[in-house]
Amino acid sequence: MPKPHDLPALLADIHREASDLFGQGRVASYIPALAEVNPHQFGIAIATIDGQTHSVGDAHTPFSLQSITKLFTFVLALKLEGDALWQRVGREPSGAAFNSIVQLETENGVPRNPFINAGALVITDILTTRYAHLDYALLGALRRLADEPGLHWNPRVARSERDTAHRNMAMAYFMKSHGNFRNEPEAVLDNYCRQCATEMSCAQLAQATLFLANNGRDLSRSGQPDEQFLGPDETRRVNALLLTCGAYDAAGDFAYRIGLPVKTGVGGGIVAVVPEVGTVAVWAPELDAKGNSVLGAFALERLVAATGWGHTSF
Ligand code: DON
Repeated sequence: MPKPHDLPALLADIHREASDLFGQGRVASYIPALAEVNPHQFGIAIATIDGQTHSVGDAHTPFSLQSITKLFTFVLALKLEGDALWQRVGREPSGAAFNSIVQLETENGVPRNPFINAGALVITDILTTRYAHLDYALLGALRRLADEPGLHWNPRVARSERDTAHRNMAMAYFMKSHGNFRNEPEAVLDNYCRQCATEMSCAQLAQATLFLANNGRDLSRSGQPDEQFLGPDETRRVNALLLTCGAYDAAGDFAYRIGLPVKTGVGGGIVAVVPEVGTVAVWAPELDAKGNSVLGAFALERLVAATGWGHTSF
């Protein structure tokens, strides 16, 4: 592993090499507002549990978190529901696209895992029951974890997704027909689209997820010093799910290339957890065919190869 003072040089090298890949992917366009993002942006940020931060490129530019928010909503639901959660959602990789609907029919409206869209909708349904104003409850948790009181969701992006959310709506109604949805699909979709439109920079995202590298203990300045945000056992389990399901039908490929718990989003962000070490957030809007950032995945692969971090999670 390079010494911490070597990380800035390594990040600069990786940033330069990855920049050759601009043009190989495509910005998400099925949510119209996401298609307006300048594709030529790329940032990397590292936060370590001993308090160091390193960044390069557009690491301080906010981007649309999209599915990365599913990691936080899952953690909130796990804290509230514990093991009862597993009656509503599974914990197996789906091997199918993030927005696939087919398994729901054969599996009685119970989604394979909390990170595919169907599973994340169930999680948002659970939180919609628990919170009168889920959008503010979620923002409150994120602002605290990220040490960033100004975090917000982008109303234009939320509206754009909500206006075109036909497939997610279909899944919500299908799950309701199986009794696996408590609230009205419209209300849950409102919350889900706001949730997905949350914006953060790589630097903020690395900070907000640091508890996952620290056995669940909160390292933010806004929390109580050393507070257990999530229990150590739950944290280990969240990381296991991120490793096996965090990149959807590319989860096997990500485990092979990177070997770390990750969560990806169609905004082009990826966050990776290096247990006992820290977190890495990358962002570049151009996506591969499976909806994951091309430059981001390359950067994580290079970083892990140079540091050996991919082996620390096993
Ligand atoms: O529900 C959707 O389709 C989006 N709001 C989020 C999808 C996403 O980010 C998938 N990740 N790669």
